Amino acid sequence: MEAVILSGGFGTRLRPLTYTRPKPLLPIANKPMVQHILDRLPDEVDRAVLASGYKVEEIRAWAETLDHRVELVVIDEEEPLGTGGAIKNVEDEITGEFLCFNGDVLSSLDLDRLVATRREHDAMGALALWEVDEPEHFGVVAMDGPKITDFVEKPDPGQAPTNLINAGTYCFSQDILDHIPAGRKVSIEREIYPKLIEEGYDLIGLPFQGWWVDCGRPEVYLQAHEILLDGTLEAGPGATMDGAWEGWACLGANAKVASGATLTRSILLDGAKVEAGATLVDTIVGEGATVGKDARLTGCVVGDGEHVPAGRELNQERIGGE
Ligand code: GDD
Ligand code: MG
Repeated sequence: MEAVILSGGFGTRLRPLTYTRPKPLLPIANKPMVQHILDRLPDEVDRAVLASGYKVEEIRAWAETLDHRVELVVIDEEEPLGTGGAIKNVEDEITGEFLCFNGDVLSSLDLDRLVATRREHDAMGALALWEVDEPEHFGVVAMDGPKITDFVEKPDPGQAPTNLINAGTYCFSQDILDHIPAGRKVSIEREIYPKLIEEGYDLIGLPFQGWWVDCGRPEVYLQAHEILLDGTLEAGPGATMDGAWEGWACLGANAKVASGATLTRSILLDGAKVEAGATLVDTIVGEGATVGKDARLTGCVVGDGEHVPAGRELNQERIGGE
């Protein structure tokens, strides 16, 4: 069984970190986002197809070094085809029923249950659903029993039919491929789901509890760490923490925190350095970047290789360009 991982987005909301790497390779708790998905795949999945488009060479290079139970196929989509078009574009790789993932979503969803749900109803698709307070930023569904009766992508404020959103993880019948037009941009959310519902095909919703994050924004990228690290310090190989930390903290390989520095709910990617007396709150420091002595950063994203001068005080800033 295959899993298709949609990972062609540019990761614009995570810039500057995504100027220098594709979003699927951005580490969460020192493991690339996409690897979190691979590691949770059900046993019956033996191949993962990465529908990529942005920085594909980096993804390929990473895939070659990865030693994983699941075989990895990286597909280069030359022009972004949208979520539906990307699935259609990898049609030749799909041999039957398949799982499909928005590559930026991590959750506690039981994937075996998702597969079982589709089979039980012999449905065109089973869609994982998550409840949120502000559904208008997502795809929103209406339900009748287990069936999805309406799908509205990013509804206007106040127009969402429910608070149940598309969690971005699906199990599909192979037949869905016959309902996606080839050779052009197609949004599965805006075009295909509404059409399937209208034509009477079954899309089954599976609401679940636990946790769910779409890591596409820095705040949520931090939240993913909050959930996975659960109040601990994660330190990669060669990392040194001579300062203090609060809440949780994540240090990539060879990252260094000098004595007298404090990290609160913050992330240093590989080789990043924080000098003495600096204070970081809700901040992400890119690969090889440095934060100078006594600097104070709150809610900042520092790009790879950037340098924040000593004593600088920054709030909600993104440091580093293309
Ligand atoms: N290959 C490929 N090609 N992948 C794409 C393309 C494309 O043209 N466009 C988007 N993707 C990938 C992104 O990389 C991401 O992993 C996933 O598809 C979803 O795209 P986003 O751009 O992150 O969409 P979103 O977060 O605004 O909305 C989607 O996710 C929500 C849950 O987080 C929708 O599926 C919503 O319905 C859903 O609620
Ligand atoms: Mg997203």
